[in-house]
Amino acid sequence: MKIDVEEKAVEQIQTPLLVVDGFEGAPASTGSAELLPAATRKTLLNLHASGELTGKALECTLVHHPPGLAALRLLVVGAGKREKFQLPHLARLAGAAVRHARCRHIHEVAWLTLARSRTPEALQHIVEGAIVGNYEPDKYRSDRASDRRVDRFVLLAGETPFSEAEKTAIARGRIIAESQNFVRNLVNEPSNRMTPTLLAEHAVAMAREFGMKSVVLGPEEIRALNMNAFWAVAQGSHEPPRLILLQYEPANAPETPIVGLIGKGVTFDTGGISLKPSQNMEEMKTDMAGGAAMLGVMRAIAQLKPPVRVKAIVPATENMPGGRAYKPGDVLTAMSGKTIEILNTDAEGRLALADALHYAKTQGCTVLIDAATLTGAVTIALGNIMTGVFGWNKEWVRRVLASAAATGERMWELPVDDDYRDLYKSSIADIANSGGRHGGAITAAMFVGEFAGETPWVHLDIAGTRWNYEEKPYLAKGPTGHPVPTLVHLLMNLNGG
Ligand code: BES
Ligand code: MN
Ligand code: ZN
Repeated sequence: MKIDVEEKAVEQIQTPLLVVDGFEGAPASTGSAELLPAATRKTLLNLHASGELTGKALECTLVHHPPGLAALRLLVVGAGKREKFQLPHLARLAGAAVRHARCRHIHEVAWLTLARSRTPEALQHIVEGAIVGNYEPDKYRSDRASDRRVDRFVLLAGETPFSEAEKTAIARGRIIAESQNFVRNLVNEPSNRMTPTLLAEHAVAMAREFGMKSVVLGPEEIRALNMNAFWAVAQGSHEPPRLILLQYEPANAPETPIVGLIGKGVTFDTGGISLKPSQNMEEMKTDMAGGAAMLGVMRAIAQLKPPVRVKAIVPATENMPGGRAYKPGDVLTAMSGKTIEILNTDAEGRLALADALHYAKTQGCTVLIDAATLTGAVTIALGNIMTGVFGWNKEWVRRVLASAAATGERMWELPVDDDYRDLYKSSIADIANSGGRHGGAITAAMFVGEFAGETPWVHLDIAGTRWNYEEKPYLAKGPTGHPVPTLVHLLMNLNGG
């Protein structure tokens, strides 16, 4: 979708769809509806009086041939209650407008902004919402209607032209949202079309496109590095594993921090010998969402160029049962030297992450952030609304939560605490790979944290938030691309950038 800006008078805008927003209670005279000429507002006031137009959150009211305007149609998007409104909600309004247009075969949307309540951040949210809303995971549908897509989204300046800072924010929003959609494309692919090998190929092609260094290690190199925990997961599959490494090292960045972004890249999780039930097992093609998200973050920062060093590390593998698969009771020695007893081969993500985190430290990373579809337990705790955030280092946890709040992504801190350690002790090795059902998201996080050691570390359990289970007015059913905006925001603001 092309993003344009226009600075013409509202009455003269020629567009198939002009969009304004208005708050509940007075949708014809609040928000950007305020800028409409009197004749148009009169129509809206009548619609409000009749009860058709209320301004309730995400309500879409379409007016054909609106009086006083050159636009063919006017769409009023409800902004909801003014006291509940927050800046990131703009993304949802823009997404709803775009999706409303899509299914009516309208290819262009013009969004009117009110200069008084406009900031660079607000514009960034609008652009992100529009591009994210325009995404549909319909690649494999023969009947997909290619004309059900908005090709151009125009931001209208209203009374005051856009500033340079506002134009920069518009460009930033586009890059972040396109990177989120890049992630959604990777996660949407079924596992027969997104093997570890293919995921690595996508990563390398993307790195080349945006001028980043990439290295991909295969089975021999993974074994030579003593990544026995990662290898244990991989050994049962006929698909060879890949360790994907991307580096972003701008010349103007300080020596530290070096941020390691580690993403779980299980391209299919059958559970292994501890086989999962067949119900919903197809969802396990998304078990590489954390890895894909980290690739998406790299794709964005390679273009936005914040002054910070970042390395992405994605251990990519399948988790399969078979004659060569690892088994419950097996003991392995992780790259760090810790011994792990396998109690459940379905707790495979933490094994791949264990070695990837340790590897990140050997590569000089001074802070570690991982994103992983790690536990079903986190979805019991937080549903698919919020990501679980874990970490011993409160300052880094705070930074991640602050970035999440700024972008509108929902995250909630869950505890790590020494008293949970007993749950994953082993009678034969240093630790066990499962702590049972109780506090499952916490013990999984803490297991991963064992391999971060003293290095500041934040863990994001995105098992719930990776996927939108029900179509929303502003978001297609399917992969979400979460938590790309949060991590990009964090990196953009790390070195005072
Ligand atoms: N990939 C799953 C977690 C998951 C569940 C992601 C649902 C997305 C949706 C993970 O590898 C897993 O199987 N975890 C187990 C851990 C248990 C065996 C200790 C779980 O959550 O049941
Ligand atoms: Mn599993
Ligand atoms: Zn898994």
